[in-house]
Amino acid sequence: MKNTMTTTMYGTVKKQIKSEPKIWLITGVAGFIGSNLLETLLLLDQRVVGLDNFATGFQYNLDEVQALVSNKQWQRFKFIEGDIRNLDDCKTACNNVDYVIHQAALGSVPRSIADPINTNGANIDGFLNMLVAARDAKVTSFTYAASSSTYGDHPALPKVEENIGNPLSPYAVTKYVNELYADVFARTYGFKTIGLRYFNIFGKRQTPDGAYAAVIPKWTAAMIAGDDVFINGDGDTSRDFNFIENAVQANILAATAKDNAKNEVYNVAVGGRTTLNTLFIELKEKLSHNGVRYLKEPIYRDFREGDVRHSQADINKIENALGYDPQFNIIQGIEKAMPWYVKFLA
Ligand SMILES: NC(=O)c1ccc[n+]([C@@H]2O[C@H](COP(=O)([O-])OP(=O)(O)OC[C@H]3O[C@@H](n4cnc5c(N)ncnc54)[C@H](O)[C@@H]3O)[C@@H](O)[C@H]2O)c1
Repeated sequence: MKNTMTTTMYGTVKKQIKSEPKIWLITGVAGFIGSNLLETLLLLDQRVVGLDNFATGFQYNLDEVQALVSNKQWQRFKFIEGDIRNLDDCKTACNNVDYVIHQAALGSVPRSIADPINTNGANIDGFLNMLVAARDAKVTSFTYAASSSTYGDHPALPKVEENIGNPLSPYAVTKYVNELYADVFARTYGFKTIGLRYFNIFGKRQTPDGAYAAVIPKWTAAMIAGDDVFINGDGDTSRDFNFIENAVQANILAATAKDNAKNEVYNVAVGGRTTLNTLFIELKEKLSHNGVRYLKEPIYRDFREGDVRHSQADINKIENALGYDPQFNIIQGIEKAMPWYVKFLA
């Protein structure tokens, strides 16, 4: 989107791994982000091991990826149904792997408020198991899904990596503990990782279903069905919505980064800020371009517990250190995702 130097960086890395394929482990491979990583890596002729227990992921996500790659590429994928809370499953999955991309976790702030124990089990115990297994397997790199929720109640905008506040939910605690463990593993064992603090990722294969669905697929599905759309609060709450292909880029750059870029956390976003009211209008408009007219007004209700009011990232650090260059702003991302939503959420 911005400069050619960084576009070249992702292009260069893709060319390089294509000519010298590696073995990647994606945990949470049947989920939204994991299955998108799988698709891109298989299309780049990589060998991929995937680990998932289907807690919130789906076999149909894997089936969809299979339909999008060649038979030969699909043969390079090995799926392990297993649980990151089980150290042996983590060890089996890490065996012979070059790059670990750790996505498996129980997402969602409200889920963590309703069920902190299970969130803690997957997100902290599971994370620690993965760190130990990956360290012992001597993998080349370990990249993990951190979260913008770590900024908690820190008021500054945009969010800069070193300035964080108090966590506002059990989920935010777990993601912050991941960062603390990652740092301690670098100091104690010399095992250096990269944490990617995602800001509201959206795109194909993000589920619209369930109480804990993310806002974009949830609203889009409701609009397609002609159902009511609910806005929590006054609609002025804002987020730095980031299209999945930017997040995939960040992961591939992080996994292949040089050692001096490691033992760091990076914001993964576009550096924009969109209110829920604007999002509603944009989704409605882009749906109409895809043949779906939504005529209702949104229904406003109470603010949701644990939610931060505004979120927007400073992305200078990841641009400078990893050559990250997001190719899609929110509008371009919604445009690209919309045909998929219309086809699969209808
Ligand atoms: N989507 C976002 O906007 C966002 C924002 C910040 C952070 N994250 C983080 O990114 C990662 C991926 O999120 P997502 O949106 O793809 O969610 P998702 O729920 O679609 O994917 C998570 C995957 O992890 C699997 N999983 C959960 N617990 C597991 C366990 N114990 N063992 C093995 N597999 C397990 C699930 O079955 C699922 O397939 C998560 O760590 C999440 O916390 C996501």
